[in-house]
Amino acid sequence: MTARENLILGIESSCDETAAAVVAGGCRILSSVVASQVDIHRKYGGVVPELASREHLRRIVPVVREALEQAGVALPDVDAIAVTRGPGLIGALLVGVTYGKVLAMALKKPLIAVNHLEGHVHAVLLEAHAAGRRPELPAVCLIVSGGHTLLYRVESASSNGAERFSYARIGGTRDDAAGEAYDKVAKMLAFGYPGGPVLDQLAAYGNPEAIRFGEPKMRGNAYDFSFSGIKTAVFYHLRRHPELAPEIEARREALARGERKADALRALASPATLDLVASFQRAVVSDLVNRTLAAAEQHAVRTILVSGGVAANRELRATFKAEAQRRNLAVHFPSRALSTDNAAMIAAAGYPRFLAGEHEDATLNAEANLPLS
Ligand code: KG4
Ligand code: ZN
Repeated sequence: MTARENLILGIESSCDETAAAVVAGGCRILSSVVASQVDIHRKYGGVVPELASREHLRRIVPVVREALEQAGVALPDVDAIAVTRGPGLIGALLVGVTYGKVLAMALKKPLIAVNHLEGHVHAVLLEAHAAGRRPELPAVCLIVSGGHTLLYRVESASSNGAERFSYARIGGTRDDAAGEAYDKVAKMLAFGYPGGPVLDQLAAYGNPEAIRFGEPKMRGNAYDFSFSGIKTAVFYHLRRHPELAPEIEARREALARGERKADALRALASPATLDLVASFQRAVVSDLVNRTLAAAEQHAVRTILVSGGVAANRELRATFKAEAQRRNLAVHFPSRALSTDNAAMIAAAGYPRFLAGEHEDATLNAEANLPLS
């Protein structure tokens, strides 16, 4: 008989997703429940922190209950509770941290604090491990979402039979995150919120070479990113092309009627707009891929991990795959479900800490700016 696998209950509430998951043995997902608040924040075109905290409070108990139910696990069967400590919105984080603490104390189970960014790294490793693959480390990991655009070097070492991970920051955005740029450009063009998924679909219908957005020049660290320039370039492009204003207004009205699907919005987009979208996406994707590849080369690593909401982008995935193949590098992405915020990645990231006996007590606090390294 094999030993019973340890069960970790993961809890995530750093931004606008209330999530809970049960993960067995560090990589077998028994359940992963995500309650998205996107419908609440949509009319504001971005996450409203106060509304996020209130929704987390409302959803956290039913979401955890559902995760346990789907996993067929009772609370006392859980071996540890892993919760996101930061970075994120402080009021949102506090809901998960407080609930995690209460559960751990009531059940007398270990409490594990997880950095949300480490969770994104583990989203990739978790699925690779579950599929029997072991991405070769060290690796360069690009975390690219609505809140983050970061490059880390990821290493692992074994100590006392347990694998421990360490992270070194290589670069990050100096202004907007890539997902934020997608959301802001989609807002200017009236393609709805969040902007990434719709722009991703529409980009396939335009000419990505139509408009040249200059590459952002970075003084200092060549592995830093900047996306506010391209957002401003789109803004000035629209100013120079007032003939695009009527279709933007038409899409705004369609959105107000609840017509948010990419196909419906595409019917209201001229070829010039589709070219603009395709060119914007090409510029963002090229920049993300080029800097990540350069970092991999400089750090002499053979593996690239890509995670976060923008990792779902089709052009980003295809470009990374093609470029990695050309250079004989391995590139790993999570599935769509694990690209965006979820609690399975928090449970998976907490597992090595659980094995190492790295437990927290009731003094654990949320940290809005918690760094990964
Ligand atoms: O990881 P995530 O769910 O939340 C955080 O920001 O932490 O990422 C959401 C972000 C949004 O900005 C959204 O527009 C972007 O990811 N996104 C995409 C795609 N899907 C989601 N951006 C580009 N292409 C996509 N397919
Ligand atoms: Zn995230």
